[in-house]
Amino acid sequence: MKLLVTGGAGFIGSAFVRMVLGDRKVRELVVLDKLTYAGNLENLAPVANDPRYRFVRGDICDAALVEQLMAELRPDAVVHFAAESHVDRSILSPAPVFETNLRGTFVLLEAARRNPAALFVHVSTDEVYGSLPEPLEADENFPLRPSSPYSASKAGSDLLALSYFTTYRVPVIVTRASNNYGPYQFPEKLIPLMIAHALEDRPLPVYGDGGHVRDWLYVEDHCRALAALLEKGRPGEIYNIGGNCALPNLEVVRRILRITGKPESLIRFVTDRPGHDRRYALSSRKIEQETGWKPETDFDEGLRRTVAWYQQNTGWVERVRSGEYQRYYEQNYLNREAEIRRLIRC
Ligand code: NAD
Ligand code: TYD
Repeated sequence: MKLLVTGGAGFIGSAFVRMVLGDRKVRELVVLDKLTYAGNLENLAPVANDPRYRFVRGDICDAALVEQLMAELRPDAVVHFAAESHVDRSILSPAPVFETNLRGTFVLLEAARRNPAALFVHVSTDEVYGSLPEPLEADENFPLRPSSPYSASKAGSDLLALSYFTTYRVPVIVTRASNNYGPYQFPEKLIPLMIAHALEDRPLPVYGDGGHVRDWLYVEDHCRALAALLEKGRPGEIYNIGGNCALPNLEVVRRILRITGKPESLIRFVTDRPGHDRRYALSSRKIEQETGWKPETDFDEGLRRTVAWYQQNTGWVERVRSGEYQRYYEQNYLNREAEIRRLIRC
């Protein structure tokens, strides 16, 4: 199998790359990633010497580059993770969100249309369903009611991807996962931010009353679900991927404080996020029935593993925060676009 993985230097994409390269069925894997603040080649260091893996720095909005990559690699599957993925950033600055999440997805789908053999796995989110009152849970036919620029851009790109199946028969699969956590997550999202702050004895900012509910999915469980869909997923279908672990944010923060041995006095209730969805809940019955996949990682165990990783990788946290690695990559890749394009040809 030959795979093109967009956004493979980010949190979930890099976990997926590290995982699937453990499978000998993967003959070649190319990561296409722009290396925004959220993309980091350190995340891919464990596979850097694998001869089946190649990294291409580039923007999914660059139609010529995407077209060239698709034509040269002729992938069996595109696994599309690349996105501006953070709700708070999307509220502060929506433009890059729409550029990457909508236009970038459009560019990839156009390239996939011209290479019809490639399965196109569009990695999306349960946030497209919006906030659900108890006791509702969203199945794949649930109406889309996105609340933030981020979730609206994902809902739009989901619909665009599905339209390429209906209209052009591009074999598209849309996945909608719940909130992921685990090692290598940029410390701007709830769990890594709270772990990093707890380890540094800094205040833990809980939005509003902390009663907002998210369903938590360990990143490796998510990646196993995507691998199962590469084998057994049906084109034209949507699959929810949940962790079966719905918790209010305050409870998550308290568990992090317990694991890190820090006091609850570090908690600070801060002004709520505008348009903050109160509760996400989804049913993963479809993927469970069709592929046999199930989330396997118990939340407390996943959280302990995640805390341990952040304790052992304080240097990683410092580097991604300081932007030092970004400056390095700018330098490293300055004037190297032509060289990279030559490299992907051989
Ligand atoms: P991330 O922010 O950690 O990584 C995103 C990656 O995409 C980075 O490596 C970044 O450099 C790259 N990228 C951004 N813009 C790009 C562009 N224009 N061209 C090429 N590369 C670009 O994100 P993540 O948390 O790993 O999420 C991956 C995907 O999974 C996203 O599509 C997101 O919507 C979806 N998702 C995330 C979660 C979650 O909890 N994190 C849950 C469900 C779905
Ligand atoms: P986040 O990790 O940003 O994911 P999403 O908004 O995509 O669900 O936030 C998860 C939940 O945690 C969400 O309800 C907002 C809340 N939150 C805080 O209370 N404090 C924080 O500092 C952050 C980043 C999030």
